[in-house]
This record gives sequence, structure tokens and C-alpha cells, in this order.
Amino acid sequence: MEDFISRSIEDIKKKVGDKKALCALSGGVDSSVAAVLVHKAIGDNLTCVFVDHGLLRKNERQEVERVFRDEFHMNLIVVDAEDRFLDKLKGVTDPEKKRKVIGEEFIRVFEEEQSKLSDIAFLVQGTIKSDVIESGTKGKVAVKSHHNVGGLPEDVNFELLEPLRELYKEEVREVGRSLGISSDIVERQPFPGPGLGVRCLGELTKDKLDILRDADYIFRDEVKKAGLNIWQYFAVLPNIQSVGVVDGKRTYCHTIALRAVNSIDGMTAEWVKIPLDILEKVSTRITDEVKEVNRVVFDITSKPPATIEWE
Ligand code: XMP
Repeated sequence: MEDFISRSIEDIKKKVGDKKALCALSGGVDSSVAAVLVHKAIGDNLTCVFVDHGLLRKNERQEVERVFRDEFHMNLIVVDAEDRFLDKLKGVTDPEKKRKVIGEEFIRVFEEEQSKLSDIAFLVQGTIKSDVIESGTKGKVAVKSHHNVGGLPEDVNFELLEPLRELYKEEVREVGRSLGISSDIVERQPFPGPGLGVRCLGELTKDKLDILRDADYIFRDEVKKAGLNIWQYFAVLPNIQSVGVVDGKRTYCHTIALRAVNSIDGMTAEWVKIPLDILEKVSTRITDEVKEVNRVVFDITSKPPATIEWE
């Protein structure tokens, strides 16, 4: 990996020279490793753009700022686009329509940022080997329109810089570790481009997203503390309210669903039998700490017939 890194840095230096590059940073493994690698080669000639669309997990934006701006001293533009995304999503309940609106708005925000910068010649993308192989696969049925924050406009005049094209996911993680990127980022579980937008059913509102964010944080915290090794795990807000009772008083609050799956490539997945004592702790904490929730359920469906995300 050390060899790969020094070779890549030399190649990038040669290719980019003293021109400028732009990277859409999602904070995911691939775009993070690609950005740090390119930064090692061209320093301040790289600018990263991170779009906060309001559909991020708890503390996600702060973590990206801490790592890339404070730790790696990279040029990072953080776009606070929560209001404009939620505005565009007002009244939208159809899952495919939601994905479309989020994807299109993301491109619009990114293009606006790019037009404010001058002389950008290269666009850095975290494409890895499996992306290259998958896009060459014919006859795959698209169940959902995939939107990748980082998979960007096709009609721009940039040259692409894809330093991870030859690597598999595990190798990307290894490069990330060698570059000194924290394990929180390098070992990250997959997170969909439309973010919590596909885990918060029905219309997206800040209130519902905040409830989901808090519950999701507690679930991830307890799984982490228990040291469980699970491919993907998260909370879902199914947009159901039900009757409960607290201190002898009737409540009518939200339900949270917990989802945990093991998979190799996301194409099929098996639900994970999380130990009951951990589920119990998560349920108690969520209902104690998130006052808008009075019921927690656990999703025991594999893929197929369900998909991993709920939308
Ligand atoms: P599904 O829900 O289709 O998800 O079973 C399979 C895997 O893909 C992730 N996923 C996405 N990843 N952009 C992404 O980059 C997307 O639009 C998207 N939708 C789903 C999902 O989290 C799971 O790991």
C-alpha cells in the first residue's frame, strides 16, 4: 500500500501539474480516501465541497469538518443546504420522486459551488474497482434509482481524476489507514446518497428527521459499545404513530424500526440476530431519551424479499 500511495502521488502530480481540482466529498470511505490522496499530491490546489442536505446522520457534518479541515488542513467548502432541500421536498412522499428530487438538487448545489471557483481542470471521484465492474454489468434490474453524492454531472468540462479505480474496497480501507485517516471514516458502514431521506418515510420534515437522527445515533452507539461487527445497521422512522402510556398518561407518538443486516455487496442481505440484551438497552434508551418515540420494533426481514433501505 505504501508503494501504491507513493506511485499514485507521483502520477497525480504529473497529471495535474499546477492546475486545480475539485472533489465532492461525502465523508464516505471512497471519496474521503481519494480526497486525502489527491491532497497529498497537490495540496491547496484541491478544493473539496461537502453538501449538508439536512439528511445526514447526527454529528456527521461536524465530523467531516473536524477531520478534513482541522486534521488534514484541506480546503473544504461546506454548503449548508438543509433549507433548500427540505423546501424542494415539501409534500413529496413517493420514494422514487424523493430520490429524484434529492439527486437533482444535489447536482444543482454542486454546480453553483463549482461556478464560484475559477480554473478547475479536474474532478476527483472515489470510483473503485467494483463500481467499474458493476457499471459494465448488463441486465441488472434497477429496483431503486441510485443516487451517489459524489456521482456527479456528466456534462461538465472537467477531466476525471479517479486514483482508486484499481482498488477493491478492502484495499481502499488499507490505503486510508496508511494515509492516517481515522477508523471512524475508514471502517464506515455504507450510507446511501439520499441519506436519511430513504429512512424517514412519508414527507420529510426537520422534526421527523431530528427524531430519526437521535434514535439512529443511540442504536449505532450501543452496537459500537457492544463491539458487534455488522455490515450495516441503522434506524428507520416508518411514519407510524401509536398509542402508549407513560406515568399513567396516554401518549400518541412515533415508532422507530431498527434494521441490521450482513451482506457482501448489498445485492442480497441477511438480517442480523442482535443479542436481546442489546436490543433491550437500545429500546429503553430510545424511548427514554427521544421523547417523541413510544415504540421500538426490530426488522427481521432479509433481502430478498425486502430491500435493505425502506425506500
Ligand atoms: P437496497 O435498499 O437497494 O440497498 O437493498 C442496497 C445497498 O445500497 C445502499 N443504497 C445506496 N447507496 N446510493 C448509494 O450510494 C443510493 O442511492 C443508495 N440506495 C441504497 C444501501 O444503503 C445498501 O447498502
